[in-house]
Amino acid sequence: MDQELLRAFDVRITSAGYTNRSAALRDIIRDYLVEREWDRATGEVVGTVTLVYDHHSRELESRLIELQHSRHDAVVCSTHVHLDAHHCLEVIVLRGSAEEVRSMGERLIGTRGVKHGKLTCTTTGRGLA
Ligand code: NI
Repeated sequence: MDQELLRAFDVRITSAGYTNRSAALRDIIRDYLVEREWDRATGEVVGTVTLVYDHHSRELESRLIELQHSRHDAVVCSTHVHLDAHHCLEVIVLRGSAEEVRSMGERLIGTRGVKHGKLTCTTTGRGLA
């Protein structure tokens, strides 16, 4: 492998707190496998949706709640943080097929009034060593 590339990699992983290259490679490989797991779309996956919104935004909160109730089987839990006088942060944990979790995440993030949203695709861990 290119020595320059390896050196840059070592500098980066050291600043991230890794003490050796194999531990960093293990995490990178796992992350890659989790992404492929979602691509294959078989079996159960877990995802987290992070939303930031202004709770004064008209009917936004009730739309988000309605959406979660309509697919309550896929919603594991949610946490709400009042960031300041206007803004709320909500983290929603979803579980189900990749298609279901992805579509639910996209609908929550796409709800009018949501300022920032992010779906993190993770795994139940069963398929990983
Ligand atoms: Ni709030």
